[in-house]
Amino acid sequence: MSMSRPAVYTNRNITSVKGIEDLRSEYITVSKRLHGDQFDVTLGDFQALLDDIKELVVFALLDSQLVATAQATLLWTPPQLQAYINNVVTHPEYGGRGLGRTVMESLEEAIKTQWGENGLRSIKLGLTNSPTKGNGGFYEQLGWTSRGPESDHSTVMWVKTI
Ligand SMILES: CC(C)(COP(=O)(O)OP(=O)(O)OC[C@H]1O[C@@H](n2cnc3c(N)ncnc32)[C@H](O)[C@@H]1OP(=O)(O)O)[C@@H](O)C(=O)NCCC(=O)NCCS
Repeated sequence: MSMSRPAVYTNRNITSVKGIEDLRSEYITVSKRLHGDQFDVTLGDFQALLDDIKELVVFALLDSQLVATAQATLLWTPPQLQAYINNVVTHPEYGGRGLGRTVMESLEEAIKTQWGENGLRSIKLGLTNSPTKGNGGFYEQLGWTSRGPESDHSTVMWVKTI
């Protein structure tokens, strides 16, 4: 499908082209696809996310509108730097046009540049997904491997909400 190329920003520079109130409202719209209709984020929390040096958030805009986003959180766990990927989502009306790939590739570049000394220092990336969502193929296309039950290095994630 032909379309204009998205403009890609991160939380370090997005507010030079878009006000935080508008960005927050479009971020909520897009995130509802992932987290459900009740999803909300306060302006204070959203501002804190944008300002956090251990967070990188990529925003893809088409005609100034937010159409896809992805987030990485830096984990300084000696000896290996790690980054955990979260909140990967494309606007429901803009799926299947390469925008998910764009935000993930841009996020990897930003991680390398800003946290990995321009690629000199390796960073282990991790993410979890729910197989029931049927989006594993998306990550495979982007070069990720899973550690599900069929893997030689099967890994179980444990969670606890406190
Ligand atoms: C998963 C998601 C982010 C993909 O975004 P998208 O913009 O539609 O994806 P793209 O068009 O960039 O696809 C990139 C590649 O992945 C492939 N792909 C995308 N979704 C796929 C799927 N569900 N299964 C298999 N392959 C898929 C595409 O065919 C494309 O391949 P190519 O680049 O080699 O041609 C989007 O469907 C989404 O927001 N889903 C709901 C939220 C979600 O599940 N997020 C992930 C949470 S873990």
